[in-house]
Amino acid sequence: MIQRYDLAPLDGITKLVFRQVWHRHFGGADRYFIPFFSPTDHHTITPRDFRELDPEANRGLPSVPQIMTCRAPDFIWGAERMAELGYEEVNLNLGCPSGTVTAKGKGSGFLAKPDELDRFFDEVFNATSVPVSVKTRLGIADEAEFPRLLEIYNRYPIVCLTIHARVQKEKYRGAVHLDAFEAALKESKNPVCYNGDLRTVGEVRDFEARFPAADAAMIGRGAVADPALLRKLRGGKAATREELQAFTQDLYRSYQEFYGQIGTAAQRMREIWFYLIHLFEDADKLNKKLRRFKYPSEYEAIEAAIFQELTLRTDSVGDLI
Ligand SMILES: Cc1cc2nc3c(=O)[nH]c(=O)nc-3n(C[C@H](O)[C@H](O)[C@H](O)COP(=O)(O)O)c2cc1C
Repeated sequence: MIQRYDLAPLDGITKLVFRQVWHRHFGGADRYFIPFFSPTDHHTITPRDFRELDPEANRGLPSVPQIMTCRAPDFIWGAERMAELGYEEVNLNLGCPSGTVTAKGKGSGFLAKPDELDRFFDEVFNATSVPVSVKTRLGIADEAEFPRLLEIYNRYPIVCLTIHARVQKEKYRGAVHLDAFEAALKESKNPVCYNGDLRTVGEVRDFEARFPAADAAMIGRGAVADPALLRKLRGGKAATREELQAFTQDLYRSYQEFYGQIGTAAQRMREIWFYLIHLFEDADKLNKKLRRFKYPSEYEAIEAAIFQELTLRTDSVGDLI
């Protein structure tokens, strides 16, 4: 069995409030990845980024901050600031497929320039004292790009190489490339964490049976769609209706406190339900309403109807999320 489960960073979803509330109600993650921040040219942490990274706010949750940049001095600066805040590892984002990010050569866009990436690592590993991990994809357009990238990763003491087994072009959909992952796992000199489409206990157990040598697995959407997924992986029970309702109500209340606006809180809940709704059977009608509501009062009525009317599954339906 895999030794460690990491909660994936999902920007806009697994932000501070979500991580805290999810941890309180379900938990089961060994580490919590904080969605990326991009260092500013002036090397300051914006108040908005600080709210997310504040060690006080993350107290009790073993957290790993993530930086997205293609400039070594910016990464080094950010990593040192994170070390000063008390973080023991900093992660580099080489996975984000969004067009605005990749156009600037950041996220998975950096994978298009292996020589620059090599120089970046050379500078970073010469300068930083804090352990650095990397979250990567297999390439831009084809997984055949990965051996060249791995050759570079293997030259540096990356504390953990998390591989989202897709290429940039595939964004978040389509089958993951397990054969390419298998080859990477065999060839990597650094510890490897697998990421991509682990959504049910069955899927994780199948993965573990095929890849006993993987050091860790990172789970994102599956842990939002079924908040008890990591607890179940550790032999715990499935979420009950009462537990889920207590969770969503706590989350809604906590968003209201954090944002000071009930409208923003309801909007955040819509984003959570985008995944969570798949834990309920025959949810089409209420799901449509969830996508369309305008006012918080409407949201509250839809949520009440979900818990009153719908049947709960024990596992989310993987293909839907
Ligand atoms: C809405 C959304 C936001 C994401 N934000 C980040 C991010 O900030 N940093 C990152 O490395 N990956 C990010 N990802 C990618 C996830 O961490 C993860 O690699 C991907 O969802 C595949 O894993 P999963 O199938 O377990 O969800 C994001 C994905 C989604 C869908």
